[in-house]
Amino acid sequence: MPVPLLDVNAQNHPLEAEFTAAFTRVFKSGIFIQGPEVTKFEEEIAKLVGAKHCIGVSSGTDAILLALMALGIKAGDEVLVPTFTFFATAGCVSRLGAVPVFVDSCPICFNIDVADARAKITPKTKAIIPVHLFGQSADMDEVMALAKEHGLFVIEDGAQAIGAGYKGKGVGTLGDFGTYSFFPSKNLGGFGDGGALVCNDDKLADFARILRAHGSKPKYYHHYVGGNFRLDPLQAAMLSVKLPHYAEYTAKRQANAAYYTAQLLKVKGIVQADPAHCQCASKQDAALAAAEAKIVLPVGYEHNKHIWNQFTLRLIGEGKRDAFKEFLNAKKIGCEVYYPVTMDQQQCFADTPEASRQGCEVAHRLAGEVVSIPIYPELSQAQKDEVIAAITEFVSL
Ligand SMILES: Cc1ncc(COP(=O)(O)O)c(C=O)c1O
Repeated sequence: MPVPLLDVNAQNHPLEAEFTAAFTRVFKSGIFIQGPEVTKFEEEIAKLVGAKHCIGVSSGTDAILLALMALGIKAGDEVLVPTFTFFATAGCVSRLGAVPVFVDSCPICFNIDVADARAKITPKTKAIIPVHLFGQSADMDEVMALAKEHGLFVIEDGAQAIGAGYKGKGVGTLGDFGTYSFFPSKNLGGFGDGGALVCNDDKLADFARILRAHGSKPKYYHHYVGGNFRLDPLQAAMLSVKLPHYAEYTAKRQANAAYYTAQLLKVKGIVQADPAHCQCASKQDAALAAAEAKIVLPVGYEHNKHIWNQFTLRLIGEGKRDAFKEFLNAKKIGCEVYYPVTMDQQQCFADTPEASRQGCEVAHRLAGEVVSIPIYPELSQAQKDEVIAAITEFVSL
């Protein structure tokens, strides 16, 4: 039985009547830029994550760009970003002429290694962008402490983690800005591109709203250079249809992760990452060697509400990940490598100062070891068992 990595139709088709009604409502309103649908959706998102303000924007990428612009990040500034992330996190920094300084990652939670970030601070460092990778929060106490100590802005890239939590708070609400993506593969997946940013500061929110529409206030009077970063009302209306179901989607992802973990831990050679080794690759390596681990399962930390945008395995041993990927492909089980090349190794950043690309060894290893398997809420029991059977077979080869 084929198991796709993601099946957007399985989630969207049951809501067809509601989506059609939302489309008809916007169609009949004749309001296709901003307006009540966007405002309503922004209020819903602010409530979902526990933020004072939400600003709907055109994508998760534009949310990061807009946050950086609103915070005044400019040419020559340095911004700390995890090297193991999607391109947008670093790309937006570069687009403003600022320098992305690449930070290593934790082999347990895959998030930014704050000790490495600390070591890379210079007088030019202006901000840090923790990414809540794969749906789990970065270590925000440590990030916020570092930011406070050095007067840095914090932009939380929550593209993969809307509705995830850190010590009881919604991710995205702890820094100066939090950003989200509604790209169709995200947990709150839209019908094309879309995104949002949140913040708790009235003035910053107001400024971001001005920059979202070309920096004009009043209309046609430009005190600032902004862009067109608006979220379409049609997109907002469609996403609003999904929101009442979001808690259920998350619960199903969490249940799938728990099921995979319980079943796969019965298999010799499969272990789960140990939170006690967070941000400590050497301890983790010793434990994996002692356990003769072939596959490492991801772990959600107790203080985090992990929303499992991805369920990402590590395949230990040279060439094992690629062999595993081929093995799953042959069985028509979807999988994907997020991410095969770290940001410090991207061609487009080859001209950044060498110091900004140092010391990302853990991330380099992760890029060669990780692979994400299907975790979407609508997976059937038979599909999950098929995935587990395939992994079990591979380990015993
Ligand atoms: C970590 C991260 N940041 C930013 C983005 C950019 O979001 P979008 O695709 O909506 O522009 C993504 C989406 O893939 C992402 O995964």
